[in-house]
Amino acid sequence: MGATATAAAQSQTGETLRKAGDDKNLLIGTAVSYAQLQDPGFTRVLADQAGVVVSENDMKWGPLRPTATTFDFKRADALVAFATAHGEKIRGHNLCWHEMLPSWFKTEANSGNAADLLKHHIETVVARYAGKIQSWDVVNEAINVKDGRPDGLRNSPWLQLIGPNYIEIAFRTARAADPNALLTYNDYDLAQDSPAHEAKRKAVLALLSSLKDKDVPVQALGIQSHLAAAANGSYSWTGYQTFVRDIEALGLQIFITELDVDDRALPGDISRRDAGVAKLYHSYLTTALQHPSVKAVLTWGLTDKGTWLTHFLPRADGLPQRPLPLDSDLSPTPVFRAMLDCIHAAPRR
Ligand code: XIL
Repeated sequence: MGATATAAAQSQTGETLRKAGDDKNLLIGTAVSYAQLQDPGFTRVLADQAGVVVSENDMKWGPLRPTATTFDFKRADALVAFATAHGEKIRGHNLCWHEMLPSWFKTEANSGNAADLLKHHIETVVARYAGKIQSWDVVNEAINVKDGRPDGLRNSPWLQLIGPNYIEIAFRTARAADPNALLTYNDYDLAQDSPAHEAKRKAVLALLSSLKDKDVPVQALGIQSHLAAAANGSYSWTGYQTFVRDIEALGLQIFITELDVDDRALPGDISRRDAGVAKLYHSYLTTALQHPSVKAVLTWGLTDKGTWLTHFLPRADGLPQRPLPLDSDLSPTPVFRAMLDCIHAAPRR
């Protein structure tokens, strides 16, 4: 089925992810690239399916900051304009991360100016979109247990140049620039039952708890949820369940911010692979959506065409990964059905 036919069919039956989410007061949406916004076949489906959007890359430092004194908002503005025109909410991603820093950062940022650079960036970007952003990922991926620090903090450029209080500076600056956006801490490797994920959960919980103790204005945790399919199709979420309750006890909301499934452990055969990917979505979302504190689910892309996983985690057989609710022709995959079923089964928020 072609893109237009698919979009039409979905709106006829009314079975869209966006509407299913609306019925549960649950935000459903996706990351979007600037290139995708230029494709009318895609944007029609995006308007139907997403109640919330996030820019895959265009609000990161690299794309936004051609030089240390300038900003290029063209691509970020295009997404904000699209979402506003279609009544979609917008997540901002992200204000402070160790990756995708502009090339000038290495030579121009130093311990004398880094805090001012960070503050100026956050003030400018957050003020530009103030009132339009549902939630901002203020700090992204600040924990990396493997770096060996007792507090679990990643040995990132921000930590090196400013020290551990860069996190607090980022949140307080964002709050001053937009009093209404929900301020989020976002991180990965928090979902599975494994020793590495358990250690990361512990460190993230300790970080969030210390931020709350200091009255730092953090309001939500983004659990990225880049999941990996298992060859045996067996999943358990014991650590996750406890973690979600611990996060709730801190008074924080939870957003699933970057859901997708690495399918390298599954066979190349498309129907077996799609069934395996959908099974993991179903298992994870059934667990996550039991918790009314989980307010949003965003997949990291809407269609398999252009998923970062094909390049970031290439399959041994060279086939493109199939991690998302629509295939590269924009036709729904079994993931789409699994998401709808889980949303229908979820309690209303
Ligand atoms: C990824 C994008 O999908 C890629 O296009 C880019 O090359 C690298 O970043 N965690 C995050 C996201 O918070 O910003 C990352 O996005 C994926 C992992």
